[in-house]
Amino acid sequence: MSRRAVILDVDTGHDDAVAIMMAGRDPAIELVGITVTAGNQTLPKTLRNTLNVCTALSIDTPVYAGMHGPVLAELETAPLIHGESGLDGPVFASVPRRAELGYAPVFIAETVMSRPARTVTLVATGPLSNIAMALRLEPALASRVGELVWMGGSAGRGNVTPSAEFNAYTDPEAASIIFSSGIPVVMIGLDVTTSVTLTGERLSALSRIPGPASEIFAASMERYRAACLRVIGESPAMHDPCCVAYVSAPGIFALARARVDVELQGRHTRGRTVVDFAAAGGRGHNAAVAVKVDAERFWAMLEAGLRRY
Ligand code: BDR
Ligand code: CA
Repeated sequence: MSRRAVILDVDTGHDDAVAIMMAGRDPAIELVGITVTAGNQTLPKTLRNTLNVCTALSIDTPVYAGMHGPVLAELETAPLIHGESGLDGPVFASVPRRAELGYAPVFIAETVMSRPARTVTLVATGPLSNIAMALRLEPALASRVGELVWMGGSAGRGNVTPSAEFNAYTDPEAASIIFSSGIPVVMIGLDVTTSVTLTGERLSALSRIPGPASEIFAASMERYRAACLRVIGESPAMHDPCCVAYVSAPGIFALARARVDVELQGRHTRGRTVVDFAAAGGRGHNAAVAVKVDAERFWAMLEAGLRRY
């Protein structure tokens, strides 16, 4: 099987950590690099969380630090959901390894440009700050990237405001740069990620899997689940791992072509992804938006991912 070369761009967070676990040993994925942005927490914290997970699971992919905040806006983190560390719950015994020298947007631009066109897939599970900066560094990226698979946005309701999903809300200017660039985007938004929620029963079953990944999974998901129940009154959605599942097995998602624009002005709607499936404005489609997921197949993939460690 030929593996897909992937750069995973994260703001590690609880569900980002699970995305790293799934991508780290998926036989369909060649994990070329992990790039980190601020989002769920500040950059030093999301970087530390990323390095902790990689060190604990012996994922030796190079890790690059990127943007300390959105391209224009002030950073608003998510401590109520992900805690003060950004990954409250698991205790990491060993000292984490270090990030590479160099900057995430530069690594992204150089890696994509130095490989054959359309052979690198970008998977972004946080605000799009690093990818937008990479595009500003190297505009030709838009025609060289195979696909950008992004967890973010929503055709329906938001989760941080009634209109906006967290990753879109945190850096809407970056999202707007991306959707205006011509880069082929697969948007895995709340429309599908909220169909894969972690019940207490499922958490107990997955926690019984032997090995270090399920130990980290159990400790972090217990905390994430408690926070989601307390703050939003719902079991947590496995937002970010959906992107990795898509790259590995696209067939478990149904996609619909759409025109996606990002609201930058609205007093109540800033950060909303305005999804027009009819592309009625005459400007054509610029994204494929996930509209359905086979949740049982997703859970089977997540379980297989944890068993690989
Ligand atoms: C997104 O927001 C973050 O808190 C999660 O990690 C996920 O990427 C869901 O809206
Ligand atoms: Ca995330």
